[in-house]
Amino acid sequence: MNQGDSSSRGSFGRLGFILAATGSAVGLGNLWKFPYMTYANEGGSFVLVYLVSVALIGGPIMLAEILVGRRTQRNSVGAMQQLTVEANKWKGWGLVGWLGVMGGFVILSYYSVVAGWTVYYVGQCLSWSFGTFDPAAVGPGFGAFVSNGWMQIGFHALFMSLTMGVVLGGVQDGIERVTTILMPLLGVLLVVLVINSFFQPGFGKAMSFLFHVGPIRFDGLLEAVGQSFFSLSLGMGAMITYGSYVSKRDSIPKAAGTVVLFDTLVGFMACFIMMTIIYSADDPDAFGASAAILFTTMPTMFYKMTGGSVLAPLFYFLVAAAALSSTISILEVVVAYFIDNLGWARRKAVLVVGSLIFLFGVPAALSNGATLMFSLPTGTDEAGNATYMGFFDIMDYLATNWILPVGAFFLSIFVGWVLSDALTRDELEEGHGPFKLHTVWKWSLRIVCPLAIGAIIVAVLSGRTFN
Ligand code: PHE
Repeated sequence: MNQGDSSSRGSFGRLGFILAATGSAVGLGNLWKFPYMTYANEGGSFVLVYLVSVALIGGPIMLAEILVGRRTQRNSVGAMQQLTVEANKWKGWGLVGWLGVMGGFVILSYYSVVAGWTVYYVGQCLSWSFGTFDPAAVGPGFGAFVSNGWMQIGFHALFMSLTMGVVLGGVQDGIERVTTILMPLLGVLLVVLVINSFFQPGFGKAMSFLFHVGPIRFDGLLEAVGQSFFSLSLGMGAMITYGSYVSKRDSIPKAAGTVVLFDTLVGFMACFIMMTIIYSADDPDAFGASAAILFTTMPTMFYKMTGGSVLAPLFYFLVAAAALSSTISILEVVVAYFIDNLGWARRKAVLVVGSLIFLFGVPAALSNGATLMFSLPTGTDEAGNATYMGFFDIMDYLATNWILPVGAFFLSIFVGWVLSDALTRDELEEGHGPFKLHTVWKWSLRIVCPLAIGAIIVAVLSGRTFN
């Protein structure tokens, strides 16, 4: 543990930070959302825009967030407050940190619901592997599961408890220990599944789908940018918080680069795996693209292929592990605020905050079919049936379309314009040595990031959604 001021806050080892931050970034965003969105947006061009967005916007903001955290060794609110004092600027910037804490609260509440599904599917696959698998029962089974209120609350509660259990252990004994075990395991399992896809009949078609560049819808462009924030855990202080546990001896640019690289790699591997599975089916279009793809198409395909009964439970375990290493980072954002700024003990902060987030997630858990109580009517579909937007979708919409882009927008302006070059250069070079890209990075935060994100916000204001 660090000596000095931050000794009571805890700190990561060098590898520990990289694994924990990669664990935060790699999650349902990569394994559930990214393949499904890529499929829905017809591949190639969407992937290309995503990559450009990761390189031009995601990378620079990742660097900025870790810098803010490590400089101050505070939670996201405290960090922003301290820097405004240090730079002698308007204290209102602390609000950006607040937005992050709020974002963490909102995102975790519904993320934990889907994460709970992945745990359920580990058990489900085990029972299929050791019993019999009936393809006709998969779709209805998923529908029955998500509309069973008690099951939804139960698995949401289970996942929140797992998350709280890890965060209770603290930075080193909880977060770092768990992610150093889970992340390498996850890497190995992914590589096995990727190698396995080389031998599937649909591999060629999947690759041409992923790499053919065709026209892209304007909405798809925006979706790609929003997804890059979500996937990299940016815009809500997660990387500020984790950055605050980074030692002054470690290089921020190297760590940021590694995390961005790994996150992108995992997104691609997930696409390889799932697209191959989809294209190995007799009639890929029959599956369409929906959020249920991970829980309906995937099991069906797994149990058609050789070794599927071993790979299927392993795969869902992998997804659950990836989700857990993300949820702990989200809870830590909120918990760190209560510990640093309000002086709470970690135990009390985890129990109180975790329980509140659990309660806030209950309407989300119940809005995927259990009841219409937490849904807003949105009109009627072509067949004349009433359509609804549930609490779950509303929270996801709020987080992806508003909280993350707005948070990232202000953060890039803050680090780009408010913090002096002397300060940012000093912090980036500490533990790294001369950082040649400093000027380029600074200007990308000043101009490129705010303009690109601003365009998204304007697009959302004019009524376009991209989650
Ligand atoms: N990046 C995580 C994922 O891809 C989700 C996340 C968002 C985590 C924001 C932390 C903060 O699943």
